[in-house]
Amino acid sequence: MNFKIIEFKEIDSTNDYLKNNFPYLDEGTVIVTKYQTKGRGRLTRSWLDSKNNNLTFSILLNPEISNPNLSKLTLMTCASIFDVLSKKVENIKIKWPNDILIDNKKICGILTESIFEGNQLKCVIIGIGINVNSKKFPKEIVSRATSLYQATKKHFDLEELLQAVLTSFSKHYQMFLQDKHSYIDVCRLNSPFIGTMVKVLINEEIKMVKIIDILDNGNLLINDDNQLREIISGEITLI
Ligand code: BTN
Repeated sequence: MNFKIIEFKEIDSTNDYLKNNFPYLDEGTVIVTKYQTKGRGRLTRSWLDSKNNNLTFSILLNPEISNPNLSKLTLMTCASIFDVLSKKVENIKIKWPNDILIDNKKICGILTESIFEGNQLKCVIIGIGINVNSKKFPKEIVSRATSLYQATKKHFDLEELLQAVLTSFSKHYQMFLQDKHSYIDVCRLNSPFIGTMVKVLINEEIKMVKIIDILDNGNLLINDDNQLREIISGEITLI
């Protein structure tokens, strides 16, 4: 895949930039910034950023499929980032559907969005936030967030890291387009929750369920009160 990187010193949100400009941009356009003023996360959360320390970027895709499975694209992205970060730091895990954790704290979040006109898929936007060189975090997230720096006490070059992630992403995206599921295996093998009981928020109810597997379609298989249930992302929050 040919990437075209466009860098902004500061921007509201790299996902929003692609949402507003995708008709004029090619597949593989990457919007990257050193500072987002209105970074967004899943479930209408915000993504807090500290200036110049972290990697925040979005990739524009035009997959020629009518019904994109966003969960699979998010997991494909998780695997791409996992492959890069796991060479730099230990104890790194994937938390379905869109997080990468070190010692149970979030180092990376992914926000996958799609734009349709009627039934026609116009584009998919994959937004990625990786906490790289942040030494500390705002108090709202300090107990839940970590960075590569905090985990290793080393400083990382943001451009090198971006290139490594894009190379890995390109490899896994080819697999996705060929309907091969090696990236799901990366997620399965590195997900700490599989086979364990976890507290979840499901249909506005907090309960304990057993996580059985991540399926090839990207959904989560759980055992809920002795019933196997397939869950799509957005239906459940692992607490
Ligand atoms: C999450 O953890 O809920 C997802 C966080 C995604 C954050 C990234 S940073 C780059 C891109 N632009 C955004 O506004 N959000 C994503």
